Amino acid sequence: MKLLDGKKISNEIKDEIAIEVAQMKKGGEKVPHLAAVLVGNDGASLTYVGSKVRSCERIGFQSTLIHLPETTSEEALLQKINELNKNSDIDGFIVQLPLPKHIDKQKVLMAVDPDKDVDGFHPTNFGRMALDMESFISATPFGIMELLKRYEVDTQGKHTVVIGRSHIVGRPISILMSQKGNPGNATVTLAHSRTKDIKALTLQADIIISALGVPKFLKADMVKEGTVIIDVGITRVPDTTKERGYYITGDVDFEGVSKKASFITPVPGGVGPMTIAMLLKNTLLARERHRARNH
Ligand code: GUN
Repeated sequence: MKLLDGKKISNEIKDEIAIEVAQMKKGGEKVPHLAAVLVGNDGASLTYVGSKVRSCERIGFQSTLIHLPETTSEEALLQKINELNKNSDIDGFIVQLPLPKHIDKQKVLMAVDPDKDVDGFHPTNFGRMALDMESFISATPFGIMELLKRYEVDTQGKHTVVIGRSHIVGRPISILMSQKGNPGNATVTLAHSRTKDIKALTLQADIIISALGVPKFLKADMVKEGTVIIDVGITRVPDTTKERGYYITGDVDFEGVSKKASFITPVPGGVGPMTIAMLLKNTLLARERHRARNH
């Protein structure tokens, strides 16, 4: 079994980006600027956004955090997005999800200028991704592809079972894995809550990508020897013995499954850190594309 070390690879990617930013600075160019909009005080979202801002600082990006109260109206949020769209100093921005229930998520995501949509959530970017055109690929699926690439995991013709059909992970990764390329060219099955016999499918899988959010869902008796396991689940399980009051666990019963896996991502330290690295990569891409357009 070999660990797919997302923490290590994400640090390598951040170091590579930092070198490019240093060169931009040296040449007197504008450095990439990422803004994050957070509405409300969801604990996990505060952690993620804090981590994104800290990462920006580390690699020399400019960053702006716009923290709005839980009671912010949809109209006020759309107004803020419009300002960010127009602000030529901002190369890319994200609206952290989930949003409060009184705000229509789809309406908000559609208001983001696709050229600044470094989360890749706008229908234009999702559609372009699905059609193999230049786009912004959502950070989590992009991170999974990069991890497979850097560890030279063979995906060609492999049966990949994706568990979960979310717009952010399951749906896009099922498309990316089936596309021509390396990684890619996989034969993909997309399983979800209405799938009849998930175990029958996972037992046939060469690669399993689980993005379900159910702690320790995937057990050793559900996988064959030599399977590649990508665990996208990050669930906070309440635990009074921990100082923070919870511990983090994935969708995979790591203890049992790792004994049969050829490659496996740990949680934490697998897909999670890759997500942030690829968001930064997308922001660098946004800066480069804006620069190329303005020349
Ligand atoms: N919530 C969970 N994952 C993400 C993500 O990748 N981007 C944003 N904006 N919100 C999220």
